[in-house]
Amino acid sequence: MLFDKLKSNNRIPLHMPGHKRNTELLGNNLPYKIDITEIEGFDNLHEPTGIIKEIQDKLKRIYQSKQSYALINGSTVGILAGIMSAVRDGDTVLIARNSHKSVYNALELAKAGTVYIEPIYDKYGIALGIRSDQVIEKLNNKIKLIVITSPTYEGVKSDIDGICKLAHKHNIPVLVDAAHGAHFFDEYTCADIVITSLHKTLPALTQCAAANIYGNLIDYKKFQIKLSMLETTSPSYVLMTSIDECADFILNNKDQFIKYRYMLDNFYKLELRHLKLLRYDDRGKLIVFTGYTNLTGFELADLLRTEYNIEVEMSAKNYIVAMTSVCDTKENFNLFKNALIELDIKLKTDIFRPNIFPQLPTKTRESYEASKNVCYSLDKSVGMISAEYIWAYPPGIPIVVPGEIISKEMVDYLLSSIENGVNIQCTYGEIPEKIYCQCL
Ligand SMILES: Cc1ncc(COP(=O)(O)O)c(C=O)c1O
Repeated sequence: MLFDKLKSNNRIPLHMPGHKRNTELLGNNLPYKIDITEIEGFDNLHEPTGIIKEIQDKLKRIYQSKQSYALINGSTVGILAGIMSAVRDGDTVLIARNSHKSVYNALELAKAGTVYIEPIYDKYGIALGIRSDQVIEKLNNKIKLIVITSPTYEGVKSDIDGICKLAHKHNIPVLVDAAHGAHFFDEYTCADIVITSLHKTLPALTQCAAANIYGNLIDYKKFQIKLSMLETTSPSYVLMTSIDECADFILNNKDQFIKYRYMLDNFYKLELRHLKLLRYDDRGKLIVFTGYTNLTGFELADLLRTEYNIEVEMSAKNYIVAMTSVCDTKENFNLFKNALIELDIKLKTDIFRPNIFPQLPTKTRESYEASKNVCYSLDKSVGMISAEYIWAYPPGIPIVVPGEIISKEMVDYLLSSIENGVNIQCTYGEIPEKIYCQCL
């Protein structure tokens, strides 16, 4: 294994990185001892033939792919390389509008046009999965790739089987952004390329991810070339070791996954009077809905932090998302469960005020010229064409895309989100004081 090889490596490091594995000087807080560069015998991520190829072979076994790649720049680099290898300048890509910003960035880099599938939101404000009939409605002969997120941030899956059957009839490849689904090992083998963040739901260090290629519609050589263009030429051996260890963990700890499922089964027996535990496809995402109570999701997250020392992944106006994994302990599940029970008793029922996601802006990208931007404050931007992406982080899904007309509902939604403490970001980073726009 890579870790053993790195641990036993005692060569004098006349090479990068500059810390020289000198823990006497620097201390042991960081893994200097195993942080090297591509020295003889340690293979090369960009053209693996030895120990790094072995890691990729393990990923192939886990994900049952034709070809797998270890990624050390997160799913982001896999999505960029995947889209850029599948389309050419001027092609059109069909994407779900609630795609992550890395998908939008990839389309911009690939100079591809977009057609959107608009997801349907349920009464709790959560985007439902994309169905194949929604894809049929939007298909045309210019579309060269379909990109769907499954599962979403909140754990909702799309009908990837149905979408792939349909797309493959037209020879169109499907890229699944499964950044949140690394633990659904063999579920997306019908897709053409699946990008997944090991670091989000499995035991792997931040930035560790994998790209899995299936079928013949994606030219994996082309993918590899794009990946090499986009990924650092100094890939971290610490991160690659983490991918290796994560793969071994998956292959050798089936019982741990069974235990995890059992803990989740137990958790979902939780009965609450005011709060509501929502249940989507990925049961590992614990979504607690506060919309029927006198508490917002933000307030619930604050109470969990201040009174119970529990930090959840994300809070929105009407819900929180708690992310669990195979590494969570029974004690942690119980602490969370008991905190919810205690808080629930103190809550009052309130009228449900849905947080309606505003209607999508009219798309006018064709008439948008990036060079002619002026700036307005957010409240004065109604009716302007946005020259910026605007998104809430997390989850990093653009609410406004450059070229779209900013509506009043959109501005109201953004202002109330900011007021509620949502971390709203934009391309030029000056929201709400400034938004770069164009006049219609
Ligand atoms: C749906 C989705 N896709 C892609 C990404 C990018 O993943 P990474 O952070 O591993 O680059 C994220 C990150 O949050 C995401 O939520």
